[in-house]
Amino acid sequence: MTKLTRRDFIRLAGAGAATAVITACSPNAPAPTATSLPDTALPQATLPPPAAIATEGFVPDVEFALNAVQETAVIFPGTDTNVWRYTGELMKGEANALQPIPDSYLGPILRVRKGQKVRIHFTNDLPETSIIHWHGLHIPANMDGHPQYVIDNGQTYVYEFEVRNRAGMYWYHPHPHGRTGSQVYAGMAGLFLVSDDEEDAANLPSGEYDIPLVLQDRTFKEDGQLSYMSNGMMDMMMGTLGDEMLVNGKPDATLPVATRAYRLRFLNGSNSRIYKLGWEDGTPFTVIGTDGGLLEKPVERPYLTLAPAERVEIWVDFNGRSLGSEMKLISQPFTAGEIRGGQFPILTVKVEREATDNVSLPAQLSTPAFHDVSESERTRTVELMMDMGVGSWTLNGRVFEMTAVSEDEIVQMGAIETWEYRNDVASSGGGMGMMNMTLPHPIHMHGEQFQVISREINDDGKAGWDTLSEGFVDEGWKDVVLVMPGERVKVLRRFGDYAGLYLYHCHNLEHEDMGMMRNFEVRA
Ligand code: C2O
Ligand code: CU
Ligand code: CU
Repeated sequence: MTKLTRRDFIRLAGAGAATAVITACSPNAPAPTATSLPDTALPQATLPPPAAIATEGFVPDVEFALNAVQETAVIFPGTDTNVWRYTGELMKGEANALQPIPDSYLGPILRVRKGQKVRIHFTNDLPETSIIHWHGLHIPANMDGHPQYVIDNGQTYVYEFEVRNRAGMYWYHPHPHGRTGSQVYAGMAGLFLVSDDEEDAANLPSGEYDIPLVLQDRTFKEDGQLSYMSNGMMDMMMGTLGDEMLVNGKPDATLPVATRAYRLRFLNGSNSRIYKLGWEDGTPFTVIGTDGGLLEKPVERPYLTLAPAERVEIWVDFNGRSLGSEMKLISQPFTAGEIRGGQFPILTVKVEREATDNVSLPAQLSTPAFHDVSESERTRTVELMMDMGVGSWTLNGRVFEMTAVSEDEIVQMGAIETWEYRNDVASSGGGMGMMNMTLPHPIHMHGEQFQVISREINDDGKAGWDTLSEGFVDEGWKDVVLVMPGERVKVLRRFGDYAGLYLYHCHNLEHEDMGMMRNFEVRA
């Protein structure tokens, strides 16, 4: 293995700016917890009952069993690394509905079609509670993996829902409050691919020419075991960054390709790392999709900014490249507040064989059926801020409370609203000596997908913003949006169809775990 040493990587990543925080932030300080706060909540929301068992009236088209297990995986040749992962079994449906990723700790790829009814039996064989969240799906509140529904070791939770989302690359991961970061880091994540008629009509590269690539960074100890949050409090405040790059669970990844067109789909499955994806030779990207599926039309970008939990899909044609040639995908340098992204390699593409194809890039990919800004019934603002008194990142000064919502977090079912996320707010409270820590926050909302309708950057944030902003793809349906230091981002969405508690949170998993997460309630 050509493993970057931690020192190399940190040098590459240019952690200079973090030094100020290291000195201010004792690694031994106790981690903040949501329970250390008084419960200032308003009346508890009415909750649907948890669905622990299969229901008789529901006839699934596809049925899976997924188990969360402790296992070992070979990440580095000759070493067994302890991981936690999802293993799966297809109980009903076409054979390709469940596709294990060979030799990877990642969970099996689940493939379903829009309109299908899906049942999943999730059994927790871990030594702590867990629950699965279906990231990006529009499903009932008690199917969404809210942390209130965690199950213990030995218990099973049965999910039943109809797939209403458009074709796209969604994913699944644990969502137990305070433990999401450590469980994902230990290996728990998988892809959930939805297909539909509209996608079929676009005639995109398919089968072996449609390749999902899950990007994750991890730190390993000398003995090959995972090391999570070894810098304690600092890793929570800043977000955990690993010093080893893994693609689909493998270091030093190479992708053999043929001289034809491919659809490559990237998921940033990292806890907190942002990637600025670029081809080393400067080839621009042709983007065809985002979190919520295909764009209306392909768009071009010099590089792609991919924050935690975001997805981006590209069309790339290796036709005309000579056999034996290589193309390197790298992460390029950027600045985002205290975070300095350095340059490092991600993936080597090797052109290994000749092939022809019968596909061509469509001028029109899909009809996204966006809402119109004029339909917005209300604008809410959410301030992303550090509360130094509490010692946590917060949303509007609040941290997560398991089943509570505030008055301003109750949304009428079916409403179309604008939510503005503001990352230009000074810290509040005192103590800890971390003045003016500015970080990017990838904000995620559960339930329906949204559109990014505006971005506003202030003078202080502009220089950093300029290093990443050309890589945003705001033309498609999204469920995560990166909000840069000094930035205000407005998103427009519908809050449809299912009543109950859903989450909105920072998808920097360390921030989420420390409480930078809240419920909103969809009320009928
Ligand atoms: Cu992928 Cu609530 O998260
Ligand atoms: Cu989600
Ligand atoms: Cu955050």
